[in-house]
Amino acid sequence: MSTPRDAEAATGDARAVAWRIVRAVHRDGAWTGPAVDRALRGSTLDARDRAFASNLAFQALRWEGTLDWALGHVVRRPLDDVEDELRDLLRIGAWQLLYGRMPDRAAVSATVDVARSELGARTVGFANGVLRNLARRRDALSWPAADSVDGRALRTGYPRWVVEAADARFGTDADRQLAAGNEPARLTVRAGDAVAVRAALTALGAQVRTGALAPEALYVEGIAPAAVLDAAPDAVIQDEASMVVGHAAAAAVPAGARVLDMCAAPGGKATHVAALGRKVTAADRSATRLGLVDDLARRLGQPVPLVVADGTRSPWRPGAFGGVLLDAPCSGLGVVRRRPELRWRRDVADVTALAALQRDLLAAAADAVAPGGALVYSVCTWTRQETVDVIGAFLSTHDDFVAEPMADGVGRAAEDVEPGRQLTPAEHGCDGMYLAVLRRRVDGVPDPAHRR
Ligand SMILES: C[S@@+](CC[C@H](N)C(=O)[O-])C[C@H]1O[C@@H](n2cnc3c(N)ncnc32)[C@H](O)[C@@H]1O
Repeated sequence: MSTPRDAEAATGDARAVAWRIVRAVHRDGAWTGPAVDRALRGSTLDARDRAFASNLAFQALRWEGTLDWALGHVVRRPLDDVEDELRDLLRIGAWQLLYGRMPDRAAVSATVDVARSELGARTVGFANGVLRNLARRRDALSWPAADSVDGRALRTGYPRWVVEAADARFGTDADRQLAAGNEPARLTVRAGDAVAVRAALTALGAQVRTGALAPEALYVEGIAPAAVLDAAPDAVIQDEASMVVGHAAAAAVPAGARVLDMCAAPGGKATHVAALGRKVTAADRSATRLGLVDDLARRLGQPVPLVVADGTRSPWRPGAFGGVLLDAPCSGLGVVRRRPELRWRRDVADVTALAALQRDLLAAAADAVAPGGALVYSVCTWTRQETVDVIGAFLSTHDDFVAEPMADGVGRAAEDVEPGRQLTPAEHGCDGMYLAVLRRRVDGVPDPAHRR
């Protein structure tokens, strides 16, 4: 829960920008990272206030459950009855009071200034009363027992169902894994020509380090993502975990083999596999999102064939591809460092529905794999249902496929007990990505009785 060292001095304008970012996420369904970029692009804040505004928005979205719980002790009516705009501002004030380093008086008055300027004089008395009340009662809040699920949810900043899902997957390591999801994600770049990209970014004053998990990964600090792309047009902003999947998909088939990326948009992995010398066909259910693949592939000078297709009703000829990559839609809990809002947007029922979709997609993807070919499954999450359970269920009904051991250096996992690999922010510093490589037997005749 770090705050910038000089947060005490941040202006009211920085808090107003943070509030606008939170509003964009809640009102428009925006993703936090792009909402921050958009808000800062048009602002006149200096570097220190930009950092403060960005951090405050991320923290208010991340800790929403705990902030609402605390506010519930000091707002006399149900918090849901408070208008959305004002509730978001109260969360911003509450985060400063619970976790910030600024004096209470400064946090309250600067937040109340935002109420006055953005929401009107009628909100000032209420905002002031609630936040002063919270500052007074903060140390007397009756927190649930630290080892209860409720207590851990409030202390780690996740809903109960995510804590329970983490327990089911990580056991005694659950709280460490959850805490790592609250750390800021580093900016990682996939560089076609790492030497040239490093030189271009260093010339702009950025600090550039070589990545740990993929040879084309660069860790970049001191420069905005948009400036990276201006300086290095052949660079792709992509987390290293996704690069690991790209390498696994490319390594699973011979050079020049045909690879179907069945859920390809916006194209990070498809363009990577193409850059690694495989003949990629990019498919996705969404024509609009497939346009993003086209834009990216063309920017990188390597266009790929595009097909709009619902993967569950596979239009592909059986065995048409040497490899199929299924980077399936998922709960996204592995990317909460960059999308803190996701944990509050999803629930257990979503995970169950997504796991069913993943199983259907995987079964359809398998049909398109040629004998001897590879089926690569990945999801940017870690729930048991969407990872090892999907692969376990698949292998139990597809005896013509076997799980393949991963090449050395591709993450770490208890492969003696789980198929595939789980990358996590806690262990690998990258997104929480699960991947498994399944090989279709050459001599295995698919048994129709095993197909769903
Ligand atoms: C996790 S994203 C893929 C990210 C992409 N592989 C990349 O690396 O940039 C999942 C994608 O699945 C697509 N999708 C969801 N349901 C689908 C379906 N039934 N058939 C095909 N694509 C689907 C979504 O439109 C979305 O673009």
